[in-house]
Amino acid sequence: MTERKKLVAGNWKMNGSRASANEIRAMIEGAEALRDRVEMAICPPAVLAGLAGELLSGAALGLGGQDCHAERAGAFTGDISAEMWADVGARYVLVGHSERRTAHGETSDMVNAKASAVLRAGLQPVICLGESLSERKAGATLSVISDQLERSTPIPDETAGIVIAYEPVWAIGTGLTPTLDQVAEAHGRLREALCDRLGDRGRGVRILYGGSVKPDNAAVLMSTPNVDGALVGGASLKAADFLAIARASVGL
Ligand code: 13P
Repeated sequence: MTERKKLVAGNWKMNGSRASANEIRAMIEGAEALRDRVEMAICPPAVLAGLAGELLSGAALGLGGQDCHAERAGAFTGDISAEMWADVGARYVLVGHSERRTAHGETSDMVNAKASAVLRAGLQPVICLGESLSERKAGATLSVISDQLERSTPIPDETAGIVIAYEPVWAIGTGLTPTLDQVAEAHGRLREALCDRLGDRGRGVRILYGGSVKPDNAAVLMSTPNVDGALVGGASLKAADFLAIARASVGL
């Protein structure tokens, strides 16, 4: 069986300030004890990237961006390139989060171009996808997420890593989570689609679950087949909760 080290990443969204440095320090300390067991990262807002990058240098807690532009540099007011994320020490960039697909009109083709840019910069794209509530109710979940995966995922070269994050839109920030059977079904389908696309390498790709992951549901969610970690929103803002999720993800 292919070993996939779990990845627990915190998406801070539009939250946090310079005062979050204390929380980051507590996360670094807790992550150190988990260094060999689980990979961890936080994705703070871009304005905190410099501060976070300095604090996280050499730490067992990695840095990630929440989005990037597909181009390297140029006249793109307000945007940030993947190369800029690499420059401040990031290892990951989230692309295609449902909040960006919905609020910023990002299509899977755009997400694919952004993910390619992240690979170009030598970082790992965390490609987010997931069905809406109406798609779930219409029984379209598996076809929607397979289609999003197919369109949003570039084919990386032999050495590069990509990560997929399955985040049902209706589970984000709502306190609702899919049943474990629904999670296993979705992740199983994504694994099949990855293997169709990448051959055996598809088995090495981590598929994270995201959507209302909390300390008290993390252990069961993370022990579901083909769940290789978590993308955590609200509960990643507090070191105690985020560390509890990371520990639960590896059965501690
Ligand atoms: P919540 O954990 O707050 O539901 O957010 C999930 C998410 O969108 C992570 O990207």
